[in-house]
Amino acid sequence: MPPGHTGPRIIINGGERILHAEVGRPLLFTAMAEKIFIPSACGGRASCGQCRVRVLSRAPKHVPEERAVLTADEMARDVHLACQLRVTEETRIELPPGYLKARQYRARVARMRDLARDMREVELDLIEPARMRFLAGQYVQFLRPELEHDPRPLYRAYSMASSPSSDFRISLLFARVLEGEVTSYVFDRLRPGDSVTVNGPFGFFHLKESTRQIIFVAGGSGIAPIRAMLLDMAEKRNARPAALFYSAHTPADLVYAEEMRARERDMPGFSFIPVLSRPAPGDRWEGEKGGLPAALLRLLPELDDHEAYLCGGPGLVDSSINALKAKGIRDEQIFFDKFS
Ligand SMILES: Cc1cc2nc3c(=O)[nH]c(=O)nc-3n(C[C@H](O)[C@H](O)[C@H](O)COP(=O)(O)OP(=O)(O)OC[C@H]3O[C@@H](n4cnc5c(N)ncnc54)[C@H](O)[C@@H]3O)c2cc1C
Ligand code: FES
Repeated sequence: MPPGHTGPRIIINGGERILHAEVGRPLLFTAMAEKIFIPSACGGRASCGQCRVRVLSRAPKHVPEERAVLTADEMARDVHLACQLRVTEETRIELPPGYLKARQYRARVARMRDLARDMREVELDLIEPARMRFLAGQYVQFLRPELEHDPRPLYRAYSMASSPSSDFRISLLFARVLEGEVTSYVFDRLRPGDSVTVNGPFGFFHLKESTRQIIFVAGGSGIAPIRAMLLDMAEKRNARPAALFYSAHTPADLVYAEEMRARERDMPGFSFIPVLSRPAPGDRWEGEKGGLPAALLRLLPELDDHEAYLCGGPGLVDSSINALKAKGIRDEQIFFDKFS
């Protein structure tokens, strides 16, 4: 037991790791102090739902913040949010094994590029450890350090936009959120050469082993993990037919568009369909316009044996899933990450 810790034990995965709870401290932060990185995209505000864990022993009652996020079925199975779970007696917890493999990385900002209005790509050179093994589609938690006006360290999730083959330098794509705590730091203060900390990798959003045709759907910065998947497919000469529907407001908001058009030429079977929701008359846009779900309904054939991978804001992902289902795709062939 670490000196000074007298709290009850938290036994993870049958004893693979044992922690000592601190009274009043949520599991998420107790685990983090012991270098166990449970995913957290909202920094512990009970909004992202990424920190779900299952309690195997007698579980405390769910607090209102958990009831707002978890389904009735999850609560019946004693799933809790690690950011809200405060244990008062010895507790057995089940975590996906991958969580225990996530590490903390020290990195340096190698390059920053503004790819569109309020859309910044940040390349990070990993220093310690110097390499990260991840699957295309996974994400890291980026740490916004303590600031003079705000001493709380904050974590948010960002998907790798680069290929897993670049395991020493990873790219993240940040969309600025108005008054967002972490994205304001990235846009207003972060500079090339700065040291940063990321934890990971996390997530189950990655290409499944299959030969099915793929429908990719991305909105805004949701293009990041899809780009990683496409880079990975190109490097591995994976010839699965794939169509990418990408939603943005105006032509100036499309990122990686030239790269995707070049990919159409290099990867037979790949097509890129940008869909703009607000092109101005001066944009001279001749491509698809309107909402992305409407474009899916209009342009796709009946989907009998396809897989869909969707990424972006919750509204876009949910409405696009409804459109894909109306086209016949089955629930078990739909995979997504919502950037909430
Ligand atoms: C698995 C996963 C992967 C993600 N990957 C990426 C990624 O690759 N690139 C990326 O830019 N983001 C990504 N996100 C979102 C990211 O984690 C943050 O939520 C986002 O950057 C906002 O952080 P912030 O601290 O700047 O804003 P916050 O301070 O958390 O939010 C400020 C306010 O804005 C609202 N808000 C938060 N996000 C949005 C939004 N997108 N649009 C409108 N309002 C919003 C909040 O509800 C809050 O009221 C991902 C999220 C998840 C769950
Ligand atoms: S960290 Fe618990 S819900 Fe986001």
